[in-house]
Amino acid sequence: MTRVPLRRALADLPPYVPGARAGGGAMAYKLSSNENPYPPLPSVMAAIADGAVDVNRYPDMYATELTEAIARHLDVPVESVVTGGGSVALLGHVLAAVCEAGDEVVLPWRSFEAYPIYVTLAGAVGVPVPVGTDGRLDLVAMAAAVTPRTRVMLVCTPNNPTGPAVRADELAALLDAVPKDVLVLLDEAYVEFVRDPEAADGLAVFAEHPNVVLLRTFSKAYGLAGLRVGYAVARPRLAAAIRAASTPFGVSHIGQLAALASLAAQQEMRTRVDAIVAERARMLTGLRAQGWHVPDSQANFVWLALGEHAKSFADRSARAGVLVRPFAGDGVRISVGETEATDLLLEVTAEVVRR
Ligand SMILES: Cc1ncc(COP(=O)(O)O)c(C=O)c1O
Repeated sequence: MTRVPLRRALADLPPYVPGARAGGGAMAYKLSSNENPYPPLPSVMAAIADGAVDVNRYPDMYATELTEAIARHLDVPVESVVTGGGSVALLGHVLAAVCEAGDEVVLPWRSFEAYPIYVTLAGAVGVPVPVGTDGRLDLVAMAAAVTPRTRVMLVCTPNNPTGPAVRADELAALLDAVPKDVLVLLDEAYVEFVRDPEAADGLAVFAEHPNVVLLRTFSKAYGLAGLRVGYAVARPRLAAAIRAASTPFGVSHIGQLAALASLAAQQEMRTRVDAIVAERARMLTGLRAQGWHVPDSQANFVWLALGEHAKSFADRSARAGVLVRPFAGDGVRISVGETEATDLLLEVTAEVVRR
């Protein structure tokens, strides 16, 4: 039978595995997708409701008001901001904008599971550099992995799923070592949760280095994961290229309105993020008191390097009513959510260490 041939690259594409969802009517805390446990703020709900009447029209393709508000919020030129359908879409647009077939993209591993997928889809070749046993990116090894074919380096900070943030001094050394024509993408999806005083300041680094591009999102701290709004910050020439490679009308009208309302609610957002950061500290302290080795986390999740026990731990935890995200053979990532969920989780982890 003659069939439509598929791209060879697809055969090797690792699947993106979404976090488990509660099913079958059983009550479960969903700590499997790094989501924000809080419902939308009333002001954001109102913006979403207001936007409903206009959904027969296409959205503003350039998300003009939102782009201007983000630029004001970050104090960067408006030409430097590109919005998109979640920061994961922007990752694809950045790679599409700069990678030719066969170009190399240096990336940490284990890290965000979309990286190898998008690198492959861009026709590029991923060069994974192992993350240390402390969950930290090895920026020295990443710099050493650069070759004349390297076009992009992905730096995930804080790193999903292990947790630590890249330090300012190590990032400065990396940027000194990497050629100026390599685009260094700082993926700061969790930046609002960072409390490490030594962590790199992405915006300051962006101001100094024309080859640095930032990726940020409204999905995590702002709690808009279901609406898919993210943005890139890049020098105007790179920003224009990312825009050119973007999906037209990539951010929905309701997404634009909700993100604008969220930006206007800074104080409420910070209060919620502070509560998640406090809950993260409670989770880390509780786990360490039970004897677990847990890497530092500057994000809204923690990492247990359970190796071959990852899947069985996730199953056990699900039976106890807490859904976590296993990475088979490697570890489990546990998002920080409700206090009751932390309590339940700590009961499961206590049983596992006692066995
Ligand atoms: C490191 C990192 N970058 C980007 C994203 C994508 O987020 P979104 O597309 O919702 O903005 C995620 C989501 O899990 C992530 O962990």
